[in-house]
Amino acid sequence: MRTVRMHGCLEILVLTTLMMLPEVCLCAEGRFAQKLLNDLMEDYSSALRPVDDTESSLNVTLQVTLSQIKDMDERNQMLIAYLWIRQTWHDTHLRWRKEDYDGLEVIRIPSSLVWRPDLVLYNKADDDFSGPADTNVVLRYTGEITWDAPAITKSSCVVDVSYFPFDSQQCNLTFGSWTYNGNQVDIHMGMASGELSDLVENVEWECHGMPAVKNVIMYGCCPDPYPDITYTLLLQRRSSFYICNLLLPCFLIAFLAPLGFYLPADSGEKVSLGVTVLLALTVFQMMVAESLPPSESVPLIGKYYIATMTMVTASTALTIFIMNIHFCGAEAKPVPHWAKVLIIDCMSKIFFVYEVGESCVSPSDSDTLHEKLHETLHEATRLHPCTGPQVEPCLYCPPELLPNLEFITHCFREQRETGRKVKEWKKVAKVMDRFFMWIFFIMIFLMSILIIIGKAP
Ligand SMILES: *[C@@H]1O[C@H](CO)[C@@H](O)[C@H](O)[C@H]1NC(C)=O
Ligand SMILES: *[C@@H]1O[C@H](CO)[C@@H](O)[C@H](O)[C@H]1NC(C)=O
Repeated sequence: MRTVRMHGCLEILVLTTLMMLPEVCLCAEGRFAQKLLNDLMEDYSSALRPVDDTESSLNVTLQVTLSQIKDMDERNQMLIAYLWIRQTWHDTHLRWRKEDYDGLEVIRIPSSLVWRPDLVLYNKADDDFSGPADTNVVLRYTGEITWDAPAITKSSCVVDVSYFPFDSQQCNLTFGSWTYNGNQVDIHMGMASGELSDLVENVEWECHGMPAVKNVIMYGCCPDPYPDITYTLLLQRRSSFYICNLLLPCFLIAFLAPLGFYLPADSGEKVSLGVTVLLALTVFQMMVAESLPPSESVPLIGKYYIATMTMVTASTALTIFIMNIHFCGAEAKPVPHWAKVLIIDCMSKIFFVYEVGESCVSPSDSDTLHEKLHETLHEATRLHPCTGPQVEPCLYCPPELLPNLEFITHCFREQRETGRKVKEWKKVAKVMDRFFMWIFFIMIFLMSILIIIGKAP
C-alpha cells in the first residue's frame, strides 16, 4: 500500500519534471548564451590578432562562391560580380567548455564584436572602399569562427577583344590581407576552385570555371612573404546575339555590293547602290566601335568590316570606270584588236555574256534605215515614172539622182559602223562588269568563310 503510493508520487514527480523540462531548457539556453557572451567579451579586444603566441601565424581559410555575373564592362575593363565570401579562422580567446554553459555549442553574434581578418580584393576597380557587409559570424565552442558575407565586387579585368564576338575572357579576383604578412595571417584555399553551383546564368557570358591559385609574393624590401589567393574566372561570350545583329546583316549587305556590277548601266543606279552599301556598313561599324574599348588590337569583326568596306569602295570605283567605257560614244576610237580577242571573244564565253541586249537593239536600227532607203528609192521612181508599159514599178533610177543615192548609202554605212563601235564598247563594259561581279562575289564569300573560321583563337 505504501509502496504503491510512493510509486504514484514518483510518477507525478517525473511527469511534472518532463512537462517542465522544455521550458526550463529554453530558458537556460537563453540565459546561458547571455552569460557566455558576457564572459567571452569581458576582456576581449576585437582589435588584436587572436593568437596565443604573437610569433605564430593565424590560418584563415577563404572560400568564394560566385552567385552572379552582374556586368562585364568591356569599355571600362571592369567586371561586376556578386560573390559570397566565406572566411574561417580560429580565435583562441573565444573558446568555452560547453558543459559549463548547458551544452551550448554554437552562438551567432555580430561580426563587429570579434576580430576579423582584413582580406580585401586587390584588383578592385571601385571608388568606394567599403568591405564586405557586417553580417553575423558563427562561433563554435572550439573557437572556430565562420563568417559568410555577400559582396558586390567591381574588379579590374584586362579584356582582350581581338576575337570579338567569339572571344573568351579571363578575369582575376585576387584576395589578400591588406596589412598582415604571411607570418601573421596565412590564407588557405577552402577548395581548389570557386563554387559555381549557385550561379545565376548570365545572358551574355557562359562561365567555364573559376580555378584558384595561391601566390606568395616576396617583396624586395622585407623578408616576409605576402600570400594572396587568385581566382581566375573563365568566361566565354555567347555570340549568337552578335551573329544575328552584327554579322548576318553585314553578310547580306556585303553580298549586295557585287550585284551593282550586274545592274544595267542605263538605269543610272550603279554608283548609288555602292554608296548606299558603304553607308550601311559604316553604321554597323560605328555600333561595334561604340561598345568596345578603343584598343590597339582591332577586333575580328572590325577587320571584317574594314575589309568589306574596302571591297565595296573598290567595286564602286571600278563601276565608275566601267560606266565610262560603256558610254564611249561615236567619237571614241574603235576597240583595240587585243581587247576584241581577249574580252569579246574569250571572256564573254567564259562568263556567259549573251547577246541579249545587242540582238534587241541592232535589227530595229538597221530596219529603220532600210525602210528609209526604200522610201527614198520609191520616191525617186514615183517622181520619174518608167516609160515602159510595166505594171510593177521598175528600179530605174535617173542618172542625176545617183550621187544622192551614193551619199545616202555612205551615210548608212557610216552609221552602221558607228553603231557597231558603240555596241562593241558596250559589250566590253558588259563583259568586264560580269568578270568583276564574279571576282567580288568570290572575295566576299571567302571573307565570310574566313571570319567564321577565324573565330577559333
Ligand atoms: C596553419 O596551417 C598550416 C598548414 O596547413 C599548419 O601547419 C599550421 O599548424 C596551422 N596553424 C595553426 C595555428 O593552426
Ligand atoms: C591571373 O592570375 C593568374 C594566376 O595567378 C596569372 O597566371 C595570370 O597572369 C593573371 N592574369 C592577369 C591578366 O593578370
